[in-house]
Amino acid sequence: MDSLKITGGHKLNGTIPISGAKNSALKLMAACLLTREPLTLTNMPNLADTRFLSQLLASLGVEVYWPKGDSECRLNAAELTSTIAPYDQVRKMRASFNVLGPMLAREGHATVSLPGGCAIGARPVDLHLQALEAMGADLKVEAGYVKAAAIHGLKGAKIVFPFVSVGATEHAMLAATLAHGTTILENAAREPEIADLADCLNKMGANIGGAGTATVKIEGVEALSGATHAVMADRIEAGTYAMAAAAAGGDVTLEGAPVAALGAMIDAMQRSGVDVEADEAAATIRVQRNGSALKAVDVNTQPHPGFPTDLQAQFMALMSIADGTSVIRENIFENRFMHAPELSRLGADIQVRGKEAIVKGVEQLRGAPVMATDLRASVSLVIAALAAEGETQVNRIYHLDRGFERLEEKLTGCGADIQRVEGE
Ligand code: UD1
Repeated sequence: MDSLKITGGHKLNGTIPISGAKNSALKLMAACLLTREPLTLTNMPNLADTRFLSQLLASLGVEVYWPKGDSECRLNAAELTSTIAPYDQVRKMRASFNVLGPMLAREGHATVSLPGGCAIGARPVDLHLQALEAMGADLKVEAGYVKAAAIHGLKGAKIVFPFVSVGATEHAMLAATLAHGTTILENAAREPEIADLADCLNKMGANIGGAGTATVKIEGVEALSGATHAVMADRIEAGTYAMAAAAAGGDVTLEGAPVAALGAMIDAMQRSGVDVEADEAAATIRVQRNGSALKAVDVNTQPHPGFPTDLQAQFMALMSIADGTSVIRENIFENRFMHAPELSRLGADIQVRGKEAIVKGVEQLRGAPVMATDLRASVSLVIAALAAEGETQVNRIYHLDRGFERLEEKLTGCGADIQRVEGE
């Protein structure tokens, strides 16, 4: 298994281009199943997760044209040869589960394994299933598989989510595009990736209003057509590099950043004393910290537009070298502090009590061997390592490859000392 060897203490200076959003790309790719015409996605991030989903789609009969390293991907689901997504394909990545709704809406049946994904809590799919059932799907869960049927097609329905779920909102939206009648989603997630998905579906001929608000209305249509859509920029990647620059110090400009989607993160960084200049029109965020101390700031993760859970680990790394004590509360997932003991190996002073991590800032982190546990946790270790004195080896970085495109290249381009060490 590959690892990263990082020698900390180098300031970061330069520019970092932001890639297309992984979390958006995965749902946009699933949308190709709703039409017999080609869907072309541009600004596609080349990641283990997106490549992996393209293989799953290919196994269902989708013609995938996506040359290695290319940012344009063409998906043509003219004919589906299978409506079964097997365990081996779905267990590795939870977002694969979102192929269920589109296949069901189009073909009237689908069988999809229950998902796997990051080990950050139970992460059930009950809300996804309730939404599909409300649209008239007949569902059976057998031997780890969901067998779904809607012989006469899905019907529009009013669905009130008991709590906010990004995946369930997107899944219901995808399925409802081809349902008979109108679907209303109440207490829908408002993440920017949902509006991105709706934009793409509307280009394909869907009729979706309100995406990005708590009430989404979808008028079902007879059929969808092909389209070309540019994947939105990755707000989590942008936030991650902003925190890397703040932790290591220096002056970094993020290019092609989704500024409007990052309000809570920018606010938290500014409160911690980091100089952040965001320019929405230019899509840039400039982050500067030259010698000034970081102030401890409390954050609470919340559904969008609150502080994103996907930036919680990175912010913890930053707070571990701030002046004072910060309380970081995780409200979305119940087991998302696995990075805390690893950060402690680098000298951070963190105590986890239930949903809260109490982070007492220390003067200096010191390099040590650490283990990546999930996608966002891994990158928090990279941030800490960049700020630490000496050498850190981050093991099990396959998690990083799932979600960060050209991470070493982007950081070394700004002066970081990072090397990938190939394992056996
Ligand atoms: C998506 C993102 C992930 C992000 C998360 C929250 C993708 C591929 N992943 O994950 O990076 O951290 O949103 O912003 O887009 N839940 C249920 N039942 C369900 C569905 C969810 O109990 O049927 C729970 C989850 O366990 C979790 C909470 O609801 O505690 C929120 O999860 P959800 O918003 O659905 O996250 P994902 O869509 O899985």
